Amino acid sequence: MATAIPTQVVIFGASGDLTARKLVPALFSAFHQGHLPGGTQLIGVARRPWDDNGFREHLAQTVGKPTEHPRWAEFLGGVHYVRTHLDTAEDYRELARALDAAAPGPVNRVFYLAVKPELFLPSVAHMHAAGLLTQDGTNGPRRRVVVEKPFGADLGSATVLNQNLLGLLGEDQLYRIDHYLGKETVQNTLVFRFRNALFEPLWNQKYVELVQITVGEAIGMENGRGGFYDTAGAARDILQNHLLQVLALVAMEAPSSMQAKDIRDEKVKVLRALRSLDGLDARKHIVRGQYEGYRAEPGVDPQSQTETYIAARAYIDNWRWGGVPFLLRTGKHLPARFTSVKVQFRMPPHTLFGGPDECHLRPNAITLRIQPNDGIDITFDVKEPGQGLVIQPAKLNFDYAGRFQKATPDAYERLLIDVINGDQALFIRSDEIEQSWRWTDSLRARMRETPLHLYGRNSWGPFAGDELFGECEGRWVQG
Ligand SMILES: NC(=O)c1ccc[n+]([C@@H]2O[C@H](COP(=O)([O-])OP(=O)(O)OC[C@H]3O[C@@H](n4cnc5c(N)ncnc54)[C@H](OP(=O)(O)O)[C@@H]3O)[C@@H](O)[C@H]2O)c1
Repeated sequence: MATAIPTQVVIFGASGDLTARKLVPALFSAFHQGHLPGGTQLIGVARRPWDDNGFREHLAQTVGKPTEHPRWAEFLGGVHYVRTHLDTAEDYRELARALDAAAPGPVNRVFYLAVKPELFLPSVAHMHAAGLLTQDGTNGPRRRVVVEKPFGADLGSATVLNQNLLGLLGEDQLYRIDHYLGKETVQNTLVFRFRNALFEPLWNQKYVELVQITVGEAIGMENGRGGFYDTAGAARDILQNHLLQVLALVAMEAPSSMQAKDIRDEKVKVLRALRSLDGLDARKHIVRGQYEGYRAEPGVDPQSQTETYIAARAYIDNWRWGGVPFLLRTGKHLPARFTSVKVQFRMPPHTLFGGPDECHLRPNAITLRIQPNDGIDITFDVKEPGQGLVIQPAKLNFDYAGRFQKATPDAYERLLIDVINGDQALFIRSDEIEQSWRWTDSLRARMRETPLHLYGRNSWGPFAGDELFGECEGRWVQG
């Protein structure tokens, strides 16, 4: 539900890729469906020497489909541009004046930092000094800041960034975004688990043998990402954030309410319980790879040791999950772009059908398909009709598209509306970020002791990836 007073959505990095591809289309979609408070404005901020019309023309050329909508011109009426050098203190005072002039009455402000991470702290410090983050009481207009990923590069830098930012604004003003949390199927994980008495009793170490989570990417270093990616790698770029966020939702206890605090309290407990890889046999817990030709990509070191594929066998040391392996995998240039969670159940205690050689057959699994073709699959065994006892696998499918016949909103749209409404449930709190880095750091430290396998583009990554599964535990899903 929209708040009563209008919001100025101030995008730092307004001439950039994220703004054109995601933020403006998401904001426009929310606007034309009536999900924004009346009078909401979009204020673009960047260094380009544009005026309002220059920015509007840039959007017309870059955002694509929204410009064909009958309400696009109306939307543009609320679009402004303020040329600002984010490293220059004086420019923020000018920005403050321009924002006041654009909306003279009470107005909430969302500052979206769609700029490189080095600018996060200086921008917030300059905003603070210019009074842009000051809020009056608890009922006055709100000042909120959205920070993009990456948030830090390890535990040390993330902790320092948290401390510095929280010296300038409250945790309730800070929205650390992971767009995965805006995806419908990710949110549906909570509904599926905690609304259905059918499944939740089985969702623990007593019945679950293994959980595997994949974030697979079909692309490589497109759009000049090589230079950045080579300093990050798959563990920092995807595993630390998207994979661990999905894991936290799959493994958390039921929150006592859907309030942000209760959800985030439960997520952080899972992340805290992730067993550090210090002292474990690295080769049994980590497989890393690099796709062939990566070192020839623009911006990449020709000797690069950066992983473009990482797979890990993780454990959550708590009552619910003690002893259950969580296999996590992400990679570039896999044959398909897909994200899924497969929860594999144990065999019944006594085998009535089939002999001991059937250890590879695990009839029961629940697969949450997060993208594409969002949905849920449940597999089980049935008897084939006829004489004899021939057992065959069967599947129940639920597909979002088939069931609801309406487009799924983009993750950024959902999250932008949440920021405007002050709902932090789908944003990451400082302790969650730090716990994610704690575990990722332990993985990265041990990763260097494992070989860097080369794998072909359009393959499922190194063959060694399947060796993370124990005997009879199965293998990685393929799409
Ligand atoms: N693109 C994506 O799909 C994506 C996905 C996830 C996360 N992110 C994150 O989102 C952020 C932005 O990514 P992007 O791909 O949109 O970057 P980008 O295309 O390189 O855009 C960067 C923006 O920052 C502005 N900028 C740079 N230095 C500035 C300064 N000193 N003062 C004012 N403006 C400045 C640039 O505008 P001027 O040159 O006009 O100043 C430009 O608008 C990054 O943190 C990235 O990690 C991006």
